[in-house]
Parts: sequence; structure tokens; C-alpha cells
Amino acid sequence: MPTLGVLEGSLRKASLSRAVARSATDLAPEGLDVVLMPNPGTLPLFNQDVLDEGMPAAVSALADALAGIDALLIVTPEYNWSIPGGLKNAIDWVSRLKPNPLEGMPVAIWSVSPGILGGARVHESLRHVLHSQDMVIMAKPEVQVAGARSKVHVAAGTVTDQVTRDFLSAHLTRLNAIIQVATQKDAAIA
Ligand code: FNR
Repeated sequence: MPTLGVLEGSLRKASLSRAVARSATDLAPEGLDVVLMPNPGTLPLFNQDVLDEGMPAAVSALADALAGIDALLIVTPEYNWSIPGGLKNAIDWVSRLKPNPLEGMPVAIWSVSPGILGGARVHESLRHVLHSQDMVIMAKPEVQVAGARSKVHVAAGTVTDQVTRDFLSAHLTRLNAIIQVATQKDAAIA
């Protein structure tokens, strides 16, 4: 069964986007396993000097988690019209791994915001960076959960709004189809 890893862009406990991220387990179609990646907050600040001393344990833990998945779903807020620093920091660490587990991996983005734009601008910033990792980006439909305060239950870690649940569920079904094609291609090449 293919496995989808979920990477959270927010570090805070009462995060709206974390609640959306955690709902992916409930909303995924049958036959798609969903696992949570270590939060970017577990990682130290990237410093190229450290590479000579070997990868920090937290980076190795993230690397191991990424090695076990077939596709990635990034669920993130937008900070100042762009990528939250913790998430960018995680991508910078992973980009230095050899081999880079992100290379060739399908990826989708869900942005979440209490505002009306739903974090729309983080998509382009993230796509730009994910292209640099040679990831296979599911660009459409874009998922922006706007007005998130009234659509999630933070403590329960779930999306409560039914229209949003249906949309996320349909998105995961479409992503699953892309993952199935990608994993079959990988098997044919191997
Ligand atoms: C924000 N917020 C925000 N929201 C948005 O829609 N566009 C933006 O550009 C920004 N910029 C921004 C910068 C910084 C530094 C902070 C702390 C916040 C508001 C943000 O969407 C809100 O705090 C969310 O609740 C953060 O996501 P989590 O932590 O709830 O998942």
C-alpha cells in the first residue's frame, strides 16, 4: 500500500494548519496509508558548518521518515506572503542529504489561514523551492483553507466543516491516483 507522509509547516501547539494536517488520516481514500513526518520544529537551524560533522540526529530521523514514504503532503500556513522559516529550514536540511529523498517524489500543498485568502501566496513560493528538489508537484486544484478558525477543531486535530472535508477528501483521492502511477513507474524501472 502506498504511503503518504504529511509535513506540517507550523510549529505551534494550537495550530490551525496542524489540525488540517492531522485530518488527512481520516480523509484519505482506502488503500492510501497516511503517516505524520517529524515536525520541522524538531530540527536545529541549518548551518552548513555542521555538515562536516555529520547530520544531527533530528535530521536523520526526518530523513528516515521521508525514506519510508511514496509521496508528501505539505500542510502549512503562509508567513509574510511566503514559506514559514521552520518549513524552509527543514527543506534546506533535507536538500543536503545524499541521496535526496525528495527527488522525484510526488508532492501536494495545502495552505491554511484564518484570513480570506487561505494562504494562497505560499503555494507559489513553495512550488519554486520544491521544483529545485525535482519533486513532482500536483499543482491543481490548489487547496487553500480560508477562514480556518471556523472550520477546524484544534484540540481534536480535525476539520469540522463538511464542504472542506469533502474537498480535501477529493483532493487526496486525486493525489492517490498520481501516487499509484508514480509507484507503478518506479516498479517498472526497478
Ligand atoms: C502570519 N499570518 C499570515 N496569514 C496569512 O494569511 N498571510 C500571511 O502572509 C501571514 N503572515 C504571517 C506572518 C507571521 C510571522 C505570523 C506569525 C502569522 C497569520 C497566520 O495565518 C496565522 O497566525 C495562522 O494561524 C498561523 O498558522 P497556524 O500556526 O495556526 O497553523
